[in-house]
Amino acid sequence: MSIQTKKVLKQISVNNILRMKGKEKIVMVTAYDALFAKLFNNSVDMILVGDSLNMSFLGERDTLSATLEQMIYHAKAVCNGATHPLIVLDMPFGSYTNEIDAVKSATRVYQETNAQAVKIEGGRDRADIIEALTKNSIAVLGHIGLMPQFLRSDGGYKIRGKEQTDIDSLILDAKAIERAGAFALVVEGVKEEAGKLISEAVSIPTIGIGAGRYTDGQVLVWSDMFGFFEDFKPKFVKRYLDGAELIRGALDNFVSDVKSKKFPSDEFIY
Ligand code: KIV
Repeated sequence: MSIQTKKVLKQISVNNILRMKGKEKIVMVTAYDALFAKLFNNSVDMILVGDSLNMSFLGERDTLSATLEQMIYHAKAVCNGATHPLIVLDMPFGSYTNEIDAVKSATRVYQETNAQAVKIEGGRDRADIIEALTKNSIAVLGHIGLMPQFLRSDGGYKIRGKEQTDIDSLILDAKAIERAGAFALVVEGVKEEAGKLISEAVSIPTIGIGAGRYTDGQVLVWSDMFGFFEDFKPKFVKRYLDGAELIRGALDNFVSDVKSKKFPSDEFIY
């Protein structure tokens, strides 16, 4: 009888991610629960417990009402499901408005979950906060460009980096975040040239979402890429599965089996 040995991969660290720049593209996906985290476990480099869960999981209109409790709850689930990728918790709106609150909130994240890093939206205006976190041994993933937590103050989702002045401003943001100690940077919703120039301007990896081909990695929201979130599909989303259609088809089969008394048949009865 052969004993099957399951290969257990070591968990990816922030240093592993830093060293991937220029060598290998970084793959990040979002996950909100243990079931999907387990499915993603052996394939991706990073999992983001994104505050996008407020929309695709909770059904709210934007990310702004996500709470720290909610994010911690989902991060615990993801950490229970995945042991290999680096796991990042997205700090929700209002949980890091100043350095003291940010350190308090992120300390809770480290104490109550096994997430290895937190994500902070904002450019050079948030550099002090990022520095306070990294000085307190909390690893930070930055996030610039289109920032969903700025949706209401910016008056909607706006693609960035169309003008040279805006590209210059984004580069200043990226450099400030790097100086503040972030190990990597999400760049969202920018023109491809901006994504390229930002990536070239910093020595930390950039992870793009709607930022073109030249960032050091790519991230997609799982419910977008697998076709479960149908309310809208941004241009940058490639659908790798028609998840909603598959579920609807399977559910129709179940409904019809029960109505027609085909289920449960002999094989499903004790
Ligand atoms: O909340 C989220 O899923 C994100 C990604 C879009 C990067 O921030």
